[in-house]
Amino acid sequence: MELLSLLTLLLLAIASNEACQVQSSSSETTKDWWQTAQFYQIYPRSFKDSDGDGIGDLNGITSKLEYLKDLGVTAAWLSPIFKSPMVDFDYDISDFFDIQPEYGTLEDFRTLIKKAKELDLKIVLDFVPNHSSNESEWFLKSVKREKGYEDYYVWHDGKINSTTGKREPPTNWLQYFRGSAWEWNEVRQQFYLHQFAVQQPDLNYRNPLVVEQMKRVLRYWLNEGVSGFRSDALPPLFEVVPDGDGQFPDEVVSGATEDTEDRDYLTTTYIENQPETIDMFYGNRSTEGAHLPFKFNLITVMEQKGLSASNVQEVIDLWLKNIPAGRTPNWVLGNHDKRRAASRYGKEHMEGMNMLVMILPGVSVTYQGEEIGMTDGEISWEDTVDPWGCNSNPNIYEQYTRDPERTPFQWTGGTNAGFTNGSTTWLPLAADFILNDKC
Ligand code: GLC
Repeated sequence: MELLSLLTLLLLAIASNEACQVQSSSSETTKDWWQTAQFYQIYPRSFKDSDGDGIGDLNGITSKLEYLKDLGVTAAWLSPIFKSPMVDFDYDISDFFDIQPEYGTLEDFRTLIKKAKELDLKIVLDFVPNHSSNESEWFLKSVKREKGYEDYYVWHDGKINSTTGKREPPTNWLQYFRGSAWEWNEVRQQFYLHQFAVQQPDLNYRNPLVVEQMKRVLRYWLNEGVSGFRSDALPPLFEVVPDGDGQFPDEVVSGATEDTEDRDYLTTTYIENQPETIDMFYGNRSTEGAHLPFKFNLITVMEQKGLSASNVQEVIDLWLKNIPAGRTPNWVLGNHDKRRAASRYGKEHMEGMNMLVMILPGVSVTYQGEEIGMTDGEISWEDTVDPWGCNSNPNIYEQYTRDPERTPFQWTGGTNAGFTNGSTTWLPLAADFILNDKC
């Protein structure tokens, strides 16, 4: 499945203390800050390195807050900054209450928040509810069936193949990053579900302890002064309820691709967009406040039909003519999962597209680097680090890898584009920078 269609259901939730009037507000006068905000997505690893290790960090972000202010940004959304083994570059969180050491410390985060407040900039964090890292304490305890953690994740005995007599995964379900969504755990002697990488076990939202724990996460960061959250990967939050014997149904072949490892090979009827997901998210409102569902048509429709004035008009009309009264439209050109806007639309169209999302009614979301028309990096198979790319092979990895849109921000025409004072960068810089540097 295209990650973009997955993302269309992601919601940006805004802190309740700042947005309590939002749900009924439709007139200009009662609009809350986020309803007309210019959001700016920071991919911390690639934004600005302050300590020369070639990896972006919190102090790097803090040093560039004035730049965001000058751009006219209202709120910066930070992709995850939490403790993580970095299999999926922090979308595999091992401690939801702590900062990844290579990004800095909680003190650095507090400094960032303080400086942002001084500049009247809001900070929004990424909330990753669907899964944790397999190195999280919760998962390690669940593996050992420690009291209170037995059902923190989706565990299953699997089934015995009547012909071979061997134990097999409970269903044919496929993960987003290619291959089976089930992994056998030797210690617990059960399979666990992972809709993303093997190292990203799915949390079990049918367990009230999990729901409460994740609300604690939200409250914790709200107390640290953040203004809201971008919620990650909501469609796979729930799976269908198993039958009376505890068995889940198989998905059927979708016909979309012949690649049997690709998630698109099967339907996702039982593993995405269950009714409980909506209820859960509305339930979170009491913790978080208002909601804004991302809309990606400026990406998806242009991909299918190409960029033209009439296609842009179609996308704008589609939303403005259908959005329920009082709701806030939002306009997104790109993100860390999608090829860079300048590479998709053409560099020459970036100023126009940037301007468009800023002047349309509602909210704009700019992915770092779009404002200077950054293009995709060319990342070889050997340099590929994104799990989606790595789970494929040298012949097809470019269809899957998200590394090209994640290359370091190009701040200057100097060494390493001014991204770091060190000698290396965690991903190679994009070729257009190298070209400019040589000129
Ligand atoms: C979302 C993120 C993506 C991540 C996935 C798993 O789709 O945008 O980067 O890999 O969730 O957390």
